Amino acid sequence: MHMTFTVAVAGASGYAGGEMLRVLLAHPEARIGTLTAHSNAGSLLGAHQPHLRSLADRLLEPTGVDALQGHDVVVLALPHGASGAVAAELAARGDGAIVVDLGADHRLVDSSDWEAYYGSAHAGTWPYGLPELLHAGERTASAQRAALRGATRIAVPGCNVTAVSLGLQPGVAAGLIEPTDLVAVLANGYSGAGKSLKTHLLAGEALGSAQPYAVGGTHRHIPEIGQNLRSAGASQVTISFTPTLVPMSRGILATATARLVPGTAPSTVRAAWQDAYADEPFVRLLPEGHWPTTAATLGANTALVQVAVDERAGRVVTVTAIDNLVKGTAGGALQSLNLALGLDETLGLPLDGVAP
Ligand SMILES: NC(=O)c1ccc[n+]([C@@H]2O[C@H](COP(=O)([O-])OP(=O)(O)OC[C@H]3O[C@@H](n4cnc5c(N)ncnc54)[C@H](OP(=O)(O)O)[C@@H]3O)[C@@H](O)[C@H]2O)c1
Repeated sequence: MHMTFTVAVAGASGYAGGEMLRVLLAHPEARIGTLTAHSNAGSLLGAHQPHLRSLADRLLEPTGVDALQGHDVVVLALPHGASGAVAAELAARGDGAIVVDLGADHRLVDSSDWEAYYGSAHAGTWPYGLPELLHAGERTASAQRAALRGATRIAVPGCNVTAVSLGLQPGVAAGLIEPTDLVAVLANGYSGAGKSLKTHLLAGEALGSAQPYAVGGTHRHIPEIGQNLRSAGASQVTISFTPTLVPMSRGILATATARLVPGTAPSTVRAAWQDAYADEPFVRLLPEGHWPTTAATLGANTALVQVAVDERAGRVVTVTAIDNLVKGTAGGALQSLNLALGLDETLGLPLDGVAP
């Protein structure tokens, strides 16, 4: 089926916007329309995304509905808090675009979660762009795909949230782990922090060092993980979540553990993860004994997952690797957009990565 669509990208000078453009350029039906930026408006895209040669001469316009309206799809790759107003104004003008938000504004269902972690008024809730999200009672994900088919608004998940949710949700859905005793520790590449100029993001601080951040239950992705695991069937979720910046540009390696329901056989655990992901095009449970690496996911819309039982500790250990900018952002967004447009979910998406 041919279904060419035009896409405007707001925040095209940033990491998420740049990666969105890279995956769109490889999509057979996507045509790149207006590109916008904030402080860098008025300059050429090539000055900020020199790897996107085919778009190097495109002018960055100021972000606003005048520039963004009139496309089939608008992707918002903006700091959180900025996308709600743009989306509302597009709707007020009667613009019929599908709007895809890479930021956090429309992910959370519960306004009090938003207010507690983001401290501003909640912009509302959009269909959640994680096609693999399990719903209670499901062993393989279909309800979330149904929610995304034909959607005109898509809230793309947080990158850490994708990694931790994919790691743990099979055990929650199958009732094999205790969702009130979860621990996740992550190794994160620096691109997850965006292009902002901050001292702790300087090479002098980052190279040769690993540094934790948002320690002690403060990270904004915590309520979103809880929301996803409740979708998978948990009545209550308690998770200790600690990300750690490590000296790599891209990638997330999420190690998430959970107390195993006593008496559960390791073979039952493995079968639950196998059932959940056997038919998933982009999530792969590795053969036993093989462990995910971030390097094996770079550039690909792939999540690599492994699960093991630590019988002495009575815990399930899951390790998930993704590229934060592909499966964790732009690739996941395009996968959901394909569903919204009625296209094959996998169309134009990279399955293979870049290595070494
Ligand atoms: N990086 C990731 O791995 C990742 C993963 C998942 C989701 N996200 C989300 O994607 C969004 C963008 O993140 P990023 O990493 O791409 O950040 P970034 O590299 O800092 O880029 C931010 C973009 O937004 C523009 N911008 C800055 N302030 C603005 C404002 N007040 N109003 C409108 N536009 C503004 C910037 O334009 P100028 O360059 O012209 O200033 C730039 O194009 C965030 O909501 C982030 O949470 C990022």
